[in-house]
Amino acid sequence: MSTVRFLTGITTSGTPHLGNYVGSIRPAVRHSKAPGVESFYFLADYHALIKIDDPARIQRSTLEIAASWLAAGLDPAHVTFYRQSDVPEIPELCWFLTCVTGKGVLNRAHAYKASVDKNTAANLDPDADVTAGLFMYPVLMGADILMFNAHKVPVGRDQIQHIEMARDMAASFNHLYGEHFVPPQAEIEESVATLPGLDGRKMSKSYDNTIPLFSSREQLKKLIAGIKTDSRAPGEAKDTEGSALFQIYQAFASAEETQALRQAYANGIAWGEAKDLLLERIDREVAPMRAAYEDYMAHPEKVEALLLAGAAKARAIATPFMARLRGAVGLRPLNAGLQTPNANAAKAGKVALPTFKQYRDKDGQFYFKLAAADGTVLLQSRAFASGKEAGQTIASLQRDGRDAALALQALGALTDVLEPLDAADLAAAAEALAMLAEHVASN
Ligand code: TRP
Repeated sequence: MSTVRFLTGITTSGTPHLGNYVGSIRPAVRHSKAPGVESFYFLADYHALIKIDDPARIQRSTLEIAASWLAAGLDPAHVTFYRQSDVPEIPELCWFLTCVTGKGVLNRAHAYKASVDKNTAANLDPDADVTAGLFMYPVLMGADILMFNAHKVPVGRDQIQHIEMARDMAASFNHLYGEHFVPPQAEIEESVATLPGLDGRKMSKSYDNTIPLFSSREQLKKLIAGIKTDSRAPGEAKDTEGSALFQIYQAFASAEETQALRQAYANGIAWGEAKDLLLERIDREVAPMRAAYEDYMAHPEKVEALLLAGAAKARAIATPFMARLRGAVGLRPLNAGLQTPNANAAKAGKVALPTFKQYRDKDGQFYFKLAAADGTVLLQSRAFASGKEAGQTIASLQRDGRDAALALQALGALTDVLEPLDAADLAAAAEALAMLAEHVASN
């Protein structure tokens, strides 16, 4: 069975809350134990630098998030759990991808556009307070994903555009330098509802309405007491619809427990009593993890060691892969197989490859074309009785295309099966063949 590679990053910019637990940590930990799955989880601390300029907060958040994932049952022996900044190949790949990403594509990224729109609305310079880091956010994320050739990337809906951009980066790079990257796919957990916060809006740090995952029981009790309810008195039936308390309960409870609370709402349970039920239910799940969390927080050196071991595992993949990518783009030792630069590639700055296309026409006969990357037809064959003959002719052209002179000879020898070409066409076709051959040889 072939394994599917899952990868996701967690920005180290805050303290994990119940919404993170229900929406990301818990499903990821469960998922990482499924057969046929290889998972990569990492602390996106380079990404955190885009939003946060408080070094103490970055460090603390990194520890809190790592401790939370470990306490929640992530097994670092089974998954690859690492810190982004421990893998220097990631920023290196980020640069390679920067060089194949259109600036216009990044102009359209939601997060950047939102800042520009806000500035424009406020009559400010469109780029006021926008760092190049924010602008480049999607490229760094592309490097995170493509570095490990992840197939699936579990993310929230707000991140789908970034995954699509990573796909485009993979395609552009592959087109220029050969097949190195797998196009990743966003994996959206439809079944995981977003958790409401204390005020009923989505639980989010930016609304300041969160319940930290590892609050003490007393803190948890205090925070739960602050969940917004309506003013219905004990004995009055209550609505489950729109009740943040009910939705949070549901995220932790079994179907039967949820049904029992639904009934209690109908029977007019007092809000205070419902809050006690919620406290007990959450604490039942969190308490066993709390001890482990507190132990990790008290022993950061344990977390540090686990992350360094994770980085070594990650780099066992990243280092050789990066070496291959360096070679592919031409960052090569000078004593290793010096090649003749391709005239076209030098002109364009990029290698856009011609392609052979074989097809069967309406007349039932077989043909092929050689087309430049821009679609211009450079060679058109005459009819062949079989696909095999057409294929053999393509193969011989590919074989003889190693340099332009050989390619010209080959084309000359094949006048009977090619449409007549004038000298200029012939030269262009020969050059295309040589370019194709060189590309194949270097990959
Ligand atoms: N941008 C993601 C978020 O804010 C975090 C992240 C960084 C990420 N790199 C990633 C997620 C790579 C998935 C894959 O949620």
